Amino acid sequence: MSHVIKNYSRVVPERMHDVRNNARGLGILYTVEVELSRLVGCWIARTPELPEKMLLGRILYEDAEHAERIEKRLLELRVAPEKLPSLRSRTAPALLELERADNPAQFLSGLFRFVKPALLADLRRHLDGCPPYVDEPTARMLRQIISEEEEHLSDGLALLADRGIDISAAPTGALWGLFADDGGLLVDDFVGREPVPLSSPHWPASVTKLDFEQPMPAFPDDFDAAMRRCIHDLVFSETEALDIFGRYVYEFPDLPWRFHVEAARVAWDEARHVELLLNVLERYGGHVGEFPAKAPGYEEYVREPTPLRKILMVNVIAEGEVSTDTQTQHRDAFRELGDELSAILKDYEMADEIVHGQFGGKWSRVIAEQSGEDIEEALAAARRSLEGFKRMHDDEGGESAIPLVRLGADETGPDRVVNVTAKRLLGYSEDEIERISAGAGSTVEEAD
Ligand SMILES: [Fe+2]
Ligand SMILES: [Fe+2]
Repeated sequence: MSHVIKNYSRVVPERMHDVRNNARGLGILYTVEVELSRLVGCWIARTPELPEKMLLGRILYEDAEHAERIEKRLLELRVAPEKLPSLRSRTAPALLELERADNPAQFLSGLFRFVKPALLADLRRHLDGCPPYVDEPTARMLRQIISEEEEHLSDGLALLADRGIDISAAPTGALWGLFADDGGLLVDDFVGREPVPLSSPHWPASVTKLDFEQPMPAFPDDFDAAMRRCIHDLVFSETEALDIFGRYVYEFPDLPWRFHVEAARVAWDEARHVELLLNVLERYGGHVGEFPAKAPGYEEYVREPTPLRKILMVNVIAEGEVSTDTQTQHRDAFRELGDELSAILKDYEMADEIVHGQFGGKWSRVIAEQSGEDIEEALAAARRSLEGFKRMHDDEGGESAIPLVRLGADETGPDRVVNVTAKRLLGYSEDEIERISAGAGSTVEEAD
């Protein structure tokens, strides 16, 4: 009796790859996953409707993670680490074309009708050539990636059908070629080499989007309407965060791929925060577009002059330092109002927010080391710039009796509640926590 547990009869030897050929093919798939992450990151803020943004947020994270998994396997297959940046600086003409597509319909159609199917087919083709038993790490990884890519494709095609997007013309530029030595790719060019500028994100057609200097209308007097307004504001503060973190994946090509994977995860978190708040909005009887909305955080992100300043402003100050406190207030306010479900959801959001603050701490140090900037000086400059910006749009829609309305206005002073536990998780020293707490109204420590 044989102890061989595999059936090798289906193997066609000439289609099997050796280590080098395997790494060559995987290297092409790596380039495509990297480029797709950048492309999707670029289009989140340029695509107005929320279901599209939320779907793209998930695809962004999964594609960035696929690239990371392939990267790890490439290193196992003895690709030199120094070679990886070159695999991230090549592209296919069709992908550059989609980066500069005229509108989201063209991009979405190109992505789901042409690029994703071609990627799926090549992932399978590569899998077919994996020698059994010795290359199971690649095969297992590819099977998992294929299953997520199939979901992207089905969700994307369903979305196109739902929106009635009927663009059947393929991009005129070529895709990659899995069997060409160099993948048939253009070298020294890639999506995001010269980022398409975007001064403010595109938002749903049903929403009146105001510039940061335009005043928001006053909060409604009646309680229910004021609640809807407040939740509507929260939906769009999460949306602008999603738009910003998509740009992180698109705009900073000099950083290691790990940065982009973590940024993509933050973007997906924000996409899920949009989703949770849309659910809260619906339960309170509100709808998207019932109030105007503004994107001051995104506009401030664009204004900050360097990657270090952007990350300090967005992740270290706005998310780590401020938002962990405002999330605490929101969670506790929902609880006070008897809305336990929203309180629970908000508590999950805070768990994410701490990770977003940690992301800021970690990568601002890496970037400062790379660029030689002084991190304390950059932090002080980001704070000054943020204060100046806030003065320019010092408008929160007036006072409201609702405890949830703590956006922006109460980041300092006696209305501030400092979440001490969150600050410890972010790496603040006890001295720093004491300094912040001294000027605040109260502090909370989370139960174990
Ligand atoms: Fe969020
Ligand atoms: Fe966040």
